[in-house]
Amino acid sequence: MDCLSRRQFLESCAAVLGVSLVAGCGSDSGGASLTPLVAKEQNGKFVVQNAPELGLNEAQTILLDGKDAGLVFNGAFGLGALSAVCTHAGCTVEWTGDTQKPLVCPCHGSAFATNGSVQTGPANAPLKRFGVEKQGANWVLTEL
Ligand code: FES
Repeated sequence: MDCLSRRQFLESCAAVLGVSLVAGCGSDSGGASLTPLVAKEQNGKFVVQNAPELGLNEAQTILLDGKDAGLVFNGAFGLGALSAVCTHAGCTVEWTGDTQKPLVCPCHGSAFATNGSVQTGPANAPLKRFGVEKQGANWVLTEL
């Protein structure tokens, strides 16, 4: 009889859990796409080429110039963009799709509104905001 080692069992569980998390966070759930798009810096702006169409309360994770995490979302007032670097200790804030608590940090539970302001600490500074506009198939982000 074949027996799984403890390590093989944990690796199998992690693989199943990973698939479940991806399935649960797809665009159908109102969550954020887990595969980040790279926003390349061009003349002081960040450009995401071939940006996806976002449904209401959906978000796309991005990497600003391939480094810092950010989010572009389609909220009640249209497209918005924020840094996803938590101002408490630097963890990556996640998009929930919940209109009451749209952005939550998984590390210590800080919550942020779509304008970047702190809803719940321990973070006490807002997320950095970006202006975002659709130009053809691209998103163009500017620092505010
Ligand atoms: S790093 Fe986000 S709440 Fe602590």
